[in-house]
Amino acid sequence: MSRIAATICIIATLGIGTSFLFSHTKKFDAQEIVQDSSRAEKNYANFCAGCHGEKMDAFVDRRWKHGNTDKDLFKAIKHGYPDEGMPAFEKAFTDKEINELVEFMQKGIENIKRYEFSEPNKSNVYKHESLSIKLDTVLTGVDVPWGMAFLPNDDILVTERGGKLYRVSKSKKAVTIGGVPEVVAEGQGGLMDIILHPNFKKNNVVYLSYSKGKKTDKGVLATTAITRAVLKGNELVDHKEVFEAQPYSRTRHHYGCRLEWSKDGNLFITVGERGNEKENPQDLSRDLGKVHRIKEDGSIPADNPFVNTPGARPSIYSYGHRNPQGMAIHPKTGEIWTNEHGPRGGDEINILKPATNYGWAVTSYGINYNGQVMTKLTTKEGVSDPLLYWIPSIAPSGMAWVTGKRYKEWKNGLLVGSLRFKYLNLCTVENNKVIKQEILLKNIGRLRDVRMAPNGYIYVAVEKPTAAIFRLLPVKG
Ligand code: HEC
Repeated sequence: MSRIAATICIIATLGIGTSFLFSHTKKFDAQEIVQDSSRAEKNYANFCAGCHGEKMDAFVDRRWKHGNTDKDLFKAIKHGYPDEGMPAFEKAFTDKEINELVEFMQKGIENIKRYEFSEPNKSNVYKHESLSIKLDTVLTGVDVPWGMAFLPNDDILVTERGGKLYRVSKSKKAVTIGGVPEVVAEGQGGLMDIILHPNFKKNNVVYLSYSKGKKTDKGVLATTAITRAVLKGNELVDHKEVFEAQPYSRTRHHYGCRLEWSKDGNLFITVGERGNEKENPQDLSRDLGKVHRIKEDGSIPADNPFVNTPGARPSIYSYGHRNPQGMAIHPKTGEIWTNEHGPRGGDEINILKPATNYGWAVTSYGINYNGQVMTKLTTKEGVSDPLLYWIPSIAPSGMAWVTGKRYKEWKNGLLVGSLRFKYLNLCTVENNKVIKQEILLKNIGRLRDVRMAPNGYIYVAVEKPTAAIFRLLPVKG
């Protein structure tokens, strides 16, 4: 059931203007489309959507096997690729109708191409409609910076996916911290997020999420794990494992791994479905494809939603997730907001509610990477619709609310990094709806993490080849 009507944002249809808005609160209605749209759109909805997904933009946003020129598309539709499961439509359509479909698809391809910004920014000033930004480079030379935490003295702890932890001082000198757990630095795995204990000033405790390996006779398996340790000088000591997702998997992707404290002092942990969407996200006896809630010592809060459900893992807070890699607590309401990677088309923003099913892989706006539909359902009784979804997929990572006084132009702003299109996405949120989006830091690089630091500045972590941590300085006037 949809408690929140889906606010749909199809950025592809709006091009690359600095600000764009396309949202409506109605759900997709095929009937309606059949009535008010062109013949090609109608034909797509009736003859193609069943296999390629309702959203043509998601279908065209993929690798092409047989080319995507007019000629290639015409040929595919007219004669099909029967061996691959693509039927021929020469009996169903006239050449004119096929050409209309080709034109319709080309528009979608064009929309997505316009998202791939080619011009790198040569200066360190980024002009935006709302507020321009000058970059202050805090750290370079890290391969894939993944998470950041800000110490009371303004030093920054930065994780590098490969397995290193750095402490960067105000003078921008970086030292490595010893005592980091051994990580499986393969695929999307490695050393991931870091967060300070709420009482860090007194106890010096930090939490690290990472991919942990286990040798078995079937080879090394891996899972999402969290260690709690004391930062003593430049060394992590007194490790205690507070979370270990079960079961271990053979795959090396979709670990999740974001960490965030709720206002009542519990630790929220995102765990991806490890690439097994059939077995994991909907099964409460497995930790994968879930968001978890634990106490600071790793024990289970008595009011967790599934503590009394036989067979369910007691740390589970919500389920039906794919790969959530952004999480931020709403500064006023204390609600937990997350973003997650969908398949092709269908990345999501959700507000987490206990015991709630977020749908993967029963419902999705996305399609499979090979262009075929994985689920026909975008909504279902018992499933929470996303607050917002992206087509094309931006590959969201990191999430932060804009607070404080430095960035007044971004009031009510929710920042999300885009790995795929290499920018910072600013969502303006009112009454729990995204009412506007703006593209910031166009083409800066794969943007992995964004944080609002206690000193009132926004920091972003960008992956190789840029590979840097930047502080965002507002440029006034
Ligand atoms: C019965 C399922 C089915 C239907 C219906 C269908 N397709 Fe396909 N289509 C496929 C499969 C399977 C492939 C090959 C795998 C892939 O690339 O997705 C394919 C491939 C294609 C390709 C070539 C993709 C490439 O990578 O080069 C195009 C273009 C295409 N379909 C367009 C259409 C259009 C337009 C319609 C509607 C008129 C349609 N298809 C209807 C299943 C279907």
